[in-house]
Amino acid sequence: MAEGKIIVIGNEKGGTGKSTLAMHLIVWFLRQKKKVASIDLDGRQGTLTHYIQNRAAYSETHHIELGLPEHLTVTVRNNPTEQECSEDGAAFCKQLETLQKENDLIVIDTAGADSHLFRLAHAVADILISPINDSLIDLDVLAKVEPETLTVKAPGHYAQTVWQARQKRAKARKPQMRWFVLRNRVMHVSTHNEKLIWKLLEALGARINFTPLRGLGERIIFRELFLKGLTLLDIGQFKTGVTMSMAHVTARQELRSILQAIGEESVSGD
Ligand SMILES: Nc1ncnc2c1ncn2[C@@H]1O[C@H](COP(=O)(O)OP(=O)(O)O)[C@@H](O)[C@H]1O
Ligand SMILES: [Mg+2]
Repeated sequence: MAEGKIIVIGNEKGGTGKSTLAMHLIVWFLRQKKKVASIDLDGRQGTLTHYIQNRAAYSETHHIELGLPEHLTVTVRNNPTEQECSEDGAAFCKQLETLQKENDLIVIDTAGADSHLFRLAHAVADILISPINDSLIDLDVLAKVEPETLTVKAPGHYAQTVWQARQKRAKARKPQMRWFVLRNRVMHVSTHNEKLIWKLLEALGARINFTPLRGLGERIIFRELFLKGLTLLDIGQFKTGVTMSMAHVTARQELRSILQAIGEESVSGD
């Protein structure tokens, strides 16, 4: 069997929808009968871990087979020494190697902050997905924007982290990662700001090599789904207690087009 592909969900910013997207990706692949492993590198917050635990509990209480990944939680140390960094890094790579042998895909959710393991995860990513909230403030980690002309001045600090990860891959002669930047919590009305963000993302994507994706709208349903350990993909498939509304149908279409864009990359050949 070929080695499992590594999909990393990352951004140097909290609350952009990383863990929510990670869970939806996991369920999407499980439903395609793939063997999926997941790693929560944000063990301190543990959102993905809790999401998966909620799913296991819902599955048990309602006697339904929802499908679960092989899951690992990692808590990154505070202020590690150089030696601790290299020990933790080696342990992480070993675990990853084992998971890659046994799974088709490994989805790694990261914390919204820089750390040694955060950088390592980016360097092993075959596919990187960065959700961003739909605002110019969120764009700041990707690029410095010239305020008068609203053009891209220079890459932001997260874009530099990704660039360094790409360099490491090139040195190790690994194939280049594919990077997707996904807009999340997009407002329903098309505003001047919205159009501007899209234009900037397209310009920046061409410059620092990522594919911008039109993302998910702002919807309250995501919070309710988290508590039950469910995703948009489960509604209508199982007894979820959630009635399908027009908003869910639209959300699911948005999600499908995102997952297809990413998924085709991840399940197709090397
Ligand atoms: N498209 C969306 N619409 C509304 N709420 C969302 C959306 N995506 C995520 N959320 C909510 O935003 C919060 C942060 O999401 P989360 O996935 O935990 O972000 P991160 O992992 O980047 O910190 C959660 O309460 C989640 O339910
Ligand atoms: Mg998270």
